[in-house]
Amino acid sequence: MNASGKIGVFDSGIGGVTILSEIIKILPNEDYLYYSDSKNNPYGDKSDDEIKQICNNIVQHFIEENCKVIVIACNTASSKAAQYLREKYPQLLFIAIEPAYKMVHDYAYDKPTLVMATKGTIQSEKFNLLLKKYNNHKTYLLPCVGLADKIEQGNQKEIKEYLKENISCYQGKVENVVLGCTHYPLVQEEITKILGQVRFFNGAPNLAQHLKEKLEEYGWLNKGKGQIKFEDSQGLENKKNRFFEMLK
Ligand code: DGL
Repeated sequence: MNASGKIGVFDSGIGGVTILSEIIKILPNEDYLYYSDSKNNPYGDKSDDEIKQICNNIVQHFIEENCKVIVIACNTASSKAAQYLREKYPQLLFIAIEPAYKMVHDYAYDKPTLVMATKGTIQSEKFNLLLKKYNNHKTYLLPCVGLADKIEQGNQKEIKEYLKENISCYQGKVENVVLGCTHYPLVQEEITKILGQVRFFNGAPNLAQHLKEKLEEYGWLNKGKGQIKFEDSQGLENKKNRFFEMLK
């Protein structure tokens, strides 16, 4: 592997744009391949084995595309398949997002906290280890079944209704909100409208920093043009347009 390889980034759809946008701020000269797996969307309700199989296929594709690093820009895929992929492909570098619950521990430990994530992430062994390690005992876990899918579809009315129905009961009760799914930063404003001024925790900036440090350590920093290639597993043109719109 060498510096000229691409950085492969994937999610079940376009939610991973919230990760890629942080990465390109500090690594503008890398070439990227973003893979939006809308064919298998949503990941949130799938079994561990299904997720592993899906991720394995994407990794094979990234290898063919000469990716030097793979960024798992999906909390659900990270929580269920990151360890499996690292063991299966020890020669590859994987950078995986996880709910920023440790940040709550580091910066706002004593405050009541709402963790929003997919059911898959909240039930995963990986997240439960994180919760056990950093538990502030003032944490509400909210599996947001179907929310990532609504964000993926981009139906604003449905998103508003969903949030109103599912998070209004936390208004005045929580001060921290962990955005434990890469789609959720896209509706941060809507969440604020319902919960008021809360502090958001999103692992994307730290992931980007970690990726940069790893590339430096491996001597893999690129001095290229910063090209971004988008692929959708169903070839959906509207996804591509929305993705580039969001990256602006
Ligand atoms: N964006 C994803 C995550 O971070 C997954 C959404 C889904 O497909 O359910 O968990």
